[in-house]
Amino acid sequence: MTYEDTDTLIIGGGVIGLSIAWHLSRENQAVTMIDSAEPGQSSRAAAGMLAPLAEARGPGPFLDLALESLRRYPDFVEALNEESGLDLEICGPGMLRVARTAEEESALGEAFEWQAKLGLPLCRLTGEEVRRLEPDTAARVRAALLSPAERHIEPRLLLAGLTSACRNRGVRFVSGSVTDMEMTSERVIAAQTNSDRFPCQTLVIAGGAWSKFWGQILGVSVPIQPLRGQILALGPCQPILLRHTLYTHGAYLVPRSDGRIVAGATEESVGFETQTTAYGMASLRANAEELIPALSNWPLQSAWTGLRPLSVDGLPLLGRVPRWGNIHIAAGHGRNGILLAPVTAALMADSILHDAKLPEAFDPARFGGRL
Ligand code: GLY
Repeated sequence: MTYEDTDTLIIGGGVIGLSIAWHLSRENQAVTMIDSAEPGQSSRAAAGMLAPLAEARGPGPFLDLALESLRRYPDFVEALNEESGLDLEICGPGMLRVARTAEEESALGEAFEWQAKLGLPLCRLTGEEVRRLEPDTAARVRAALLSPAERHIEPRLLLAGLTSACRNRGVRFVSGSVTDMEMTSERVIAAQTNSDRFPCQTLVIAGGAWSKFWGQILGVSVPIQPLRGQILALGPCQPILLRHTLYTHGAYLVPRSDGRIVAGATEESVGFETQTTAYGMASLRANAEELIPALSNWPLQSAWTGLRPLSVDGLPLLGRVPRWGNIHIAAGHGRNGILLAPVTAALMADSILHDAKLPEAFDPARFGGRL
């Protein structure tokens, strides 16, 4: 196969790289994607929550971006279904953000005060009201915020849909690692793997937790570190114990349509280490049983880890890489890569195709220019 005609070469085939590839290919760009893993592999660990409010640290550009992406999700999924032939859906009746202690209840009250004004439906529930909706919730759950718009998606289906839609649009997937770049002082001309040379007009770095290595090669500060999340799935068992996602400080439970319940997730700065640990598994299980005691009878179905790409200021890097004429980056989405995929793809297409200036908060130049 010849790659001479590549308009955009994307390094990194996680949910962000795939979404950008799909978006650009729908704009008639010839896209090639390189990843050492299968397309989508690096994002398969996600729980799939579409939860801007639950994950928000406060008002600001990150929350605005997340709300915009949530707003785009129904159209994104509809178009993906049309182009992939799959039947993805946004699942569940929404989220219950629960409080187990007086302190957590007071934090929920404060969150409600500012989040209720943001346009998503949100209401306060007592513990009894929570148990009317979800009867298996533990007695110690004393209050909750019910957020019907914060639903979830099955990441593995989403990634399969994106891969298939990309293939149908002619995106070429290359399995390999980029070992070298051919560059002038301001532009990248081609990337080299062990087996091939990949010329391109534009390069996009969408390498998740590995993006900082590309920064080093390009002489640009890309301060992104991996933050390991361990996660496990219980069941499937009958009866169904949960319909809403339960979310609380340090733990969440996401019910899957096949009857399993996914329990996440740890946050650990352990570099690129991807093993699960006995301690991690025990704490996830304890948190799950603290929210739904009947889960103590459910068997462990599987366990895995993911590496969240966390930037030093918690905001993604989106747009043109400083002082490189044809290199762009979309990385550092932290805990919210799945949620942020639709808006990231649209913004990056604007930056790449129309040279649009993206919101300053996400400017990759904020960490300094070229070193
Ligand atoms: N968004 C959930 C997590 O990163 O664990």
